[in-house]
Amino acid sequence: MSTSSTVLKIGVLGSGSGSNMQSVLDAIQAGTLNAEIRLVLSDVADAKILDRARNHNLPHAWLDCAPFKTKLDGQAEQRCIALLKESGVDTVVLAGFMRIVKPGLLRAFPQRVLNIHPALLPAFPGLHAWQQALEYGAKVAGCTVHFVDAGTDTGPIIIQRAVPVLPGDTAATLHARIQVEEHIAYPDALRLLSEGRLSLSGRRVELA
Ligand code: GAR
Repeated sequence: MSTSSTVLKIGVLGSGSGSNMQSVLDAIQAGTLNAEIRLVLSDVADAKILDRARNHNLPHAWLDCAPFKTKLDGQAEQRCIALLKESGVDTVVLAGFMRIVKPGLLRAFPQRVLNIHPALLPAFPGLHAWQQALEYGAKVAGCTVHFVDAGTDTGPIIIQRAVPVLPGDTAATLHARIQVEEHIAYPDALRLLSEGRLSLSGRRVELA
């Protein structure tokens, strides 16, 4: 691990299985990522990501996002920010978090909210991106780790990794191939951040 890196204090927000959080945790435990997961939050009470957090003794909580169905806003956003700040989080990792985050969270953690998206942005933003790529007939798919901005899947791109779309692919087989690359890309992006090697030039992320 680089001696010039700083410890990232990560808060993870996820809605599903949490395999991306697991990849970050694995990198930390392998000593290849200088970071700590301080808190895991999910808007889905029985999400597997919370089971993973429990199994690894990571602080975790369910975030009641009612009355909103598709965004993190209002009192839920305020509670989320308060929990993250109380945990000393300085970097927010969206890992399969299926809600739109609003400017309040972005203002609380400026240029410190990252997301992983299962497509090569700007192609196929939004939901079920691998399915969109398959139905469109794309020959290449992949994943993107990016800083989050006020748009949906529009923020500055840190890392992308590509995979082929193969004859006979189903949504499930393509997503599985993309996820293999996600589990490399997210720890890699966080490592660059911890090493202070990311800087913004307009909307371009320059790598030092
Ligand atoms: C990942 O494929 C991630 O890219 C995607 O959800 C999956 C979560 O998997 N995110 C989005 O679609 C966000 N728009 P995980 O819970 O196993 O990390």
